[in-house]
Amino acid sequence: MKILVTGGAGYIGGTVALRLLSAGHNVLIYDNFCHGHRELVPAGTRLVEGDLANRERLERLFRDEKVDGVMHFAALIEAGESMKHPELYFRNNTASTLTLLEAMLATRVERLVFSSTAAVYGEPEKTPIEETAALSPTNAYGESKLLVEHMLTWLNRIHGLRYASLRYFNVAGAVEGRGEAHEPESHLIPLVLDVALGRRQSIKIFGKDYPTPDGTCIRDYVHVGDLAGAHILAFEALSTRSRLIYNIGNGQGFSVREVVESARRVTGHPIPVVEEPRRPGDPAVLVASSKRIIEELGWKPLYSSLDDIVRSAWTWHQQRYGGKH
Ligand SMILES: NC(=O)c1ccc[n+]([C@@H]2O[C@H](COP(=O)([O-])OP(=O)(O)OC[C@H]3O[C@@H](n4cnc5c(N)ncnc54)[C@H](O)[C@@H]3O)[C@@H](O)[C@H]2O)c1
Repeated sequence: MKILVTGGAGYIGGTVALRLLSAGHNVLIYDNFCHGHRELVPAGTRLVEGDLANRERLERLFRDEKVDGVMHFAALIEAGESMKHPELYFRNNTASTLTLLEAMLATRVERLVFSSTAAVYGEPEKTPIEETAALSPTNAYGESKLLVEHMLTWLNRIHGLRYASLRYFNVAGAVEGRGEAHEPESHLIPLVLDVALGRRQSIKIFGKDYPTPDGTCIRDYVHVGDLAGAHILAFEALSTRSRLIYNIGNGQGFSVREVVESARRVTGHPIPVVEEPRRPGDPAVLVASSKRIIEELGWKPLYSSLDDIVRSAWTWHQQRYGGKH
């Protein structure tokens, strides 16, 4: 099938594009490079440089290329930034996604896999979080994605757009020479590994007074290769199913301090920490129940050990940044 991957010059979109190629699909990457990397666009895909807001461009592409489906990763992803400039998130992640959806409807492209996020839940009442939990984001980033989920519900009901919304928890690790390279980086594992490589002096821990065993926030880390597998399954399932909503996580929570400890074990570096106050919008605990996708689609994540995930990220991090500091 011919699949348009928006945000395919980024960390997750590029990794999934690679998996799509291996599964025999034809892949078009669509990215405006606001945060993407040219050298990370997988060989064998066709690159189209463009913005989600460009409806005419998208429509022409869908028509000329006869695209069968879309995997939509393109977004701004920093929860912290979204609490300073929410309008950027509503414009880029919500309004521009509507433009993409309009272009799909106009050209009858009927299948979409959407990158949603655990941030749609906000502060959960029960852990692990199931897909039926209340949706109440505590940051504008999560809200910008939840608004897309609401639009998708209506477009499915009224126009029959088939979609899967995958709510990822914290994505980490690397596959086949591709890993996390966000600039600026806001994710814990690459930041900790930067300290081990000497690219940063120390790692900041935001808040040590959360209601968790060691006082730091707890998150669920899912390996990017396992996440890619979930995308392929979801896309295939849309040939018979019309609307799918799945959490994608590991089912295990690790505190910020546990991640730092893991990185110390894996890298052998002492990794100094600096304690800072809490950041606005950070829930205390986010751990997924991924039972639904495991039972319904037979998803089989391979990585459950935090050390294995950190080790995979460390191998990539050294390749990419080792010697560059
Ligand atoms: N990384 C995580 O842990 C995580 C967790 C939950 C959800 N997600 C979601 O997964 C998706 C991919 O995240 P990532 O970590 O690969 O981020 P990333 O920043 O590496 O990739 C995003 C890509 O989208 C492109 N992009 C952004 N706005 C665009 C626009 N208007 N037009 C065209 N291209 C645009 C960027 O240039 C970049 O290449 C995002 O939608 C994000 O919200 C990520």
